Amino acid sequence: MRIVIADPLAYSDIFERALRTALPSADFVRWPDLADGAEYDLLVAWHLPEEMVELPRSLRALFCFGAGTDQLLHDPRVPADLPIVRLQDQGQAEQLLDYAMHAAFARLHDDTAVRADQHARLWRPADRRNRTRGSLRAAVLGLGPLGLHVAQGLSAAGFPVSAWSRTPRRIDGVACLFGDDGLGACVDDADVVVNLLPSSPETKGILSDRLFSRLAAGAYVVNLGRGDHLDEEALHAALDRGWLGAAWLDVFAVEPLPPEHWFWRHERIRLTPHRAGLPTPQGAAASIAAVATALEQGRSLPGTVRA
Ligand code: OXD
Repeated sequence: MRIVIADPLAYSDIFERALRTALPSADFVRWPDLADGAEYDLLVAWHLPEEMVELPRSLRALFCFGAGTDQLLHDPRVPADLPIVRLQDQGQAEQLLDYAMHAAFARLHDDTAVRADQHARLWRPADRRNRTRGSLRAAVLGLGPLGLHVAQGLSAAGFPVSAWSRTPRRIDGVACLFGDDGLGACVDDADVVVNLLPSSPETKGILSDRLFSRLAAGAYVVNLGRGDHLDEEALHAALDRGWLGAAWLDVFAVEPLPPEHWFWRHERIRLTPHRAGLPTPQGAAASIAAVATALEQGRSLPGTVRA
């Protein structure tokens, strides 16, 4: 089995070692270290490099080196009948939970107001209400493997959690809502909303003025899905009028985020350059190995997004 790795995040010795240990008999090649017209079986990429003009006919599956596959599904170079699978990495899920947890604790401790007071040298102890985790409502949008992990983790930490998905789900300790009617009920009075939805025509712009207006005053919005989920103008207005306490953004409509974008300068925005949940060497190697082995054995592929 020949596997081409086309993602700089995986170009490290530690990654290479993890891959070779997980799949000792496979031949791993880093893009673009291969001859023109070379054949291979599995391609690992988050998005296709610009210089990759066409994919070889030998290719049997495309492994998305990340959670969201929209950038591959919409790439005209990817044949419509090529199976696409995605990364299943517990380490990535842990990082996303940490990020969501960090935002939830920041809201709990009223981080935006505390920083503003510090900036203004304002000693204002008496009018700040100490809250407990049990009084802070978290809403998670999207219940794929990552959303599920985040919802369960926040709930296990003691935050009351509601979660929203397209189709009905049951999760212990999480109030699950679904469909168009369920969205408003899921976010009603939430203090933190964490988006982990996939990008699709139905979810585009879902972080909108309508949704913001259902949140509790001072809520934090955490976008870990895709940049196109967010209505940027609505966010700007809701932050400036003080309705939203903060926005924690890891994904953007244009990446890298252009230097002139207002997000960089807004005091209520905390941004990270799409690195809230990165593939881990062990987790990603195991996930790639599971797909390669299933391909070899002619079984259905784990993490299939498109068969
Ligand atoms: C993604 C990821 O798909 O970071 O955005 O995994």
